[in-house]
Amino acid sequence: MSGFQRNSSGQAVIGAAVLQHIVETGTLTTPAYIYDLDGIEEGAKALVDALGHDNIVAYAVKANTAGSVVKRVARAGAGADVVSAGELQVALACGVPPARIVMSGVGKDTAEFDQAISAGIRGIQVESVEEIARLAARASALSHDANVSIRINPSVEIDSHSHIATGHDEAKFGVHLDDLDRAWAAIDAAPHLKAVGVSAHVGSMLTSPEPYVASAKVVCDSAKARRAMGKMLEFVDLGGGFGIDYGGQPAQPPTVFAKAALQLLAEQELADHQLVVEPGRSIVGPYGVLLTRVLQSKTSSPRRWAMIDAGMNDLLRPALYQAHHRVESLSAPPSGTPWRVVGPVCESSDDFGLHAISETLPDYVVIRDAGAYGFTLASEYNGRALAAEAFISKGQIESISASPGVDAWIKSRLDA
Ligand code: LLP
Repeated sequence: MSGFQRNSSGQAVIGAAVLQHIVETGTLTTPAYIYDLDGIEEGAKALVDALGHDNIVAYAVKANTAGSVVKRVARAGAGADVVSAGELQVALACGVPPARIVMSGVGKDTAEFDQAISAGIRGIQVESVEEIARLAARASALSHDANVSIRINPSVEIDSHSHIATGHDEAKFGVHLDDLDRAWAAIDAAPHLKAVGVSAHVGSMLTSPEPYVASAKVVCDSAKARRAMGKMLEFVDLGGGFGIDYGGQPAQPPTVFAKAALQLLAEQELADHQLVVEPGRSIVGPYGVLLTRVLQSKTSSPRRWAMIDAGMNDLLRPALYQAHHRVESLSAPPSGTPWRVVGPVCESSDDFGLHAISETLPDYVVIRDAGAYGFTLASEYNGRALAAEAFISKGQIESISASPGVDAWIKSRLDA
């Protein structure tokens, strides 16, 4: 499991490929996301092994939707957590078996219901009593049975950015515990719906398992209550949220979360249920970087900036969540007086923060830990083309997904 490393000469390496060599081949335009496919597969496999093959590591596809990535995750034995028809079709086409796919999402449209029902996935996770009525109507219209799981709102607060906390009382997500009996009754009454699971997702970037376990206990209570009624479920889904170390606060590895989840299930005497977890960030985040060219410096006494050709449209996390991603030189570890690294977009929030890159600015820098919620959150804001993506395996570029380029953007706007 490598991700980003430095070799003995201090050069930046991703998945055994020296980034400077990639730049020298001239095969990539910048900005470009570069992913270590072997690292992703190895990390996913370690988690699948830790959880046990009868259980499901449902990779949250929203973190990184690239086919090359999803195929590797599937090859490691993981399933998928999808939130749209688009993600469902990508997961299926990449070889994820329907029996290992769950569909989450607080607002699904009719086509999404229909595709999930027809594919016969492991669980369609409903988030309201109203949604159950809509799903029941579609299952009847298609004369097709659907496996249903209820996502509950566990009412647990987490210590994370407010935009990525989802399990508290005011969040739009999940069924409130007071409404749960009504929701089960609605599923039980629908001829084509089968209640198979209960889930929660408390939020993202958890650095230790405690809040995860707190939310998981509420899920377990719901499963036990159901079993006591003689209507045992098939699985409990404890959600994702395993954090990664962006260079600030260390995070426990995903396998620690998996072990805590398994232990809880045993303690709660729910080992007769299949366990599902939904990690996204921890599967891909550390295994991707964003390669970007330094356009110029700008000094305006007493300040100085390093201007790069990647902006908030390429990597939104710093602007949206005040997230910190390390920005480093390709040739040597961080040194010198920090530069304020900014992108070209016309927003003050297009700012990647202060980074000791090197005293003199290099031609290229790399933004680390960009494998999750990087490309998938990108936009074409300011008339900028989406970034290229390159996929590394065995130290070589296995494939490149080229940037559509600015000409394609111009055409699409003129066609509008
Ligand atoms: N399951 C559900 C229902 C989710 O909503 C999410 C993420 C996950 C699983 C995966 O969570 P993870 O293991 O990746 O933390 N764009 C934000 C993160 C948003 C997460 C949204 N839901 C970021 O860049 O930090």
